[in-house]
Amino acid sequence: MIYFKDGEYLREEQMNLSVNDRGYAFGDGVYEVIKVYDGVLYTANEHLERLLESAEKIKINLPYTLEQLIKITEELQQQNELSTGHIYLQVTRGVAPRVHQFPDQSVLPVVIGYTVENPRPIEQLESGAAMKSVDDMRWLRCDIKSLNLLGNVLAKQEAIESGCQEALFVREGIVREGSASNVFGIKEGVLYTHPANHFILNGITRRVVLQLASELSLPVVEKEFTLADAYAMDEFFFTSTNAEITPVVTIDGKSVGKGVPGQITRQLQNVFEAKIPVLVAAGQADERNTNGSAS
Ligand code: PDD
Repeated sequence: MIYFKDGEYLREEQMNLSVNDRGYAFGDGVYEVIKVYDGVLYTANEHLERLLESAEKIKINLPYTLEQLIKITEELQQQNELSTGHIYLQVTRGVAPRVHQFPDQSVLPVVIGYTVENPRPIEQLESGAAMKSVDDMRWLRCDIKSLNLLGNVLAKQEAIESGCQEALFVREGIVREGSASNVFGIKEGVLYTHPANHFILNGITRRVVLQLASELSLPVVEKEFTLADAYAMDEFFFTSTNAEITPVVTIDGKSVGKGVPGQITRQLQNVFEAKIPVLVAAGQADERNTNGSAS
């Protein structure tokens, strides 16, 4: 594995991080996960723009431009010969003795990156997933892709321990998002999702889905809805860089619609894949289209 750290590409044995890194001590940093399909980066610009925005929101001066970040991401993909998987990039406020306030201006952010080979979750995309609702105990700046993920970690664990694949955050009775995903419901042909504000991360996959919905002339309502509304949806799905568009077949053990992936969800999955040229070229999109219409 080749890692990126502060301008250098390093082998495993050359890589080291300080115990005084503020990411380690406080989770004082931001990150991104960027998908790679068959060696081709997917929506990298959008992810890297969001990384710059997240850093700015927590007052970290990222020492790289968008163009430089793209170069780093491409270089990581190439040096690791990453085929299908993702690139992880992380920026922390730097290394300094552990006091809560920001360190001196001379302390530079620490930027690291590496790649992870992982296949598309074909089976889950096909059969769907189960969600469990959990109390959203996170802070109120969920729009920032912060390293502080304790609320998300606890929620995901609770979901897994109940035999589900993803948690569904509910705050003040309102469905917000998943522990590592955004959520959408479909009722009578209308697509519902939470507005992009400080209660959720404005996912890149979420934005792609909204774009696809508009291309399909699918009506979209970006408005808060309750857990009871979620139970009553005809279809439900969650989205993320790795989970893509995952149909949800149960929430808290109750079937969503007929308890199988819905038709509009299938249509969105199909157009999502059809827009990834390497998947089309490799025949993977066709395969899913066939499976999708067969079920
Ligand atoms: N998680 N909401 C939360 C809380 C997330 O952590 C994520 C992604 C999303 C979806 O965002 P996107 O479509 O840009 O991946 C929404 C990443 C993948 C993770 O933490 O691993």
